[in-house]
Amino acid sequence: MVHEDIANVLQTREQIAIRIHELGGQISRDYQMLKADDELVIIPVLTGSIIFVADLIREIPLKMRISLVTVSSYPQTATESVGAKIVGGLPPDLAGKHVLIVDDILDSGGTIQLLRKEITRRNAQTVRVCVLLRKNIDSALQTPCEYIGFDIPDEYVVGYGLDYDNYYRNLPHVAVLKKDAL
Ligand code: IMP
Ligand code: MG
Repeated sequence: MVHEDIANVLQTREQIAIRIHELGGQISRDYQMLKADDELVIIPVLTGSIIFVADLIREIPLKMRISLVTVSSYPQTATESVGAKIVGGLPPDLAGKHVLIVDDILDSGGTIQLLRKEITRRNAQTVRVCVLLRKNIDSALQTPCEYIGFDIPDEYVVGYGLDYDNYYRNLPHVAVLKKDAL
């Protein structure tokens, strides 16, 4: 059972639900002035954001499109980023659109910086970023990010979509693994 490998829980499913409700409200208010012909495009970063984005978008009652992107930065069992690369397509036509990038966690910042640069280069009208978690490290704190769920200590976390070697995404909370599970 996945729960047996957990050392401690950082955010419970209840805390996550409350925070996502707040974030959804904030995002909805910030984008509600979009005009009828403005387009909102949510770009979730696979795979870690799947559970977060599923919950978040149901708290945002605005007309939106979803377009998934894949960025690789942690191959298999690595727990340190080795440089981000877009491996699954960004939508070709982002010119004039309002883009909200959604990711699970801000760590080195490489993923978010790369996506923001690429999406800006495609002439999106606005580009904003929403992450569930931000690690307390300089690189993360220095990466611009408009919406942040929780600031957490610099530890490798799993659950609520975040993985270790593609395991533990199905844990309902955000947690730190026992040393012997890594
Ligand atoms: P960054 O490019 O270093 O900011 O890393 C972002 C990506 O690395 C995230 O989208 C996650 O998929 C992954 N990642 C970073 N830190 C963790 C962690 O503590 N647990 C699980 N995945 C992580
Ligand atoms: Mg990721």
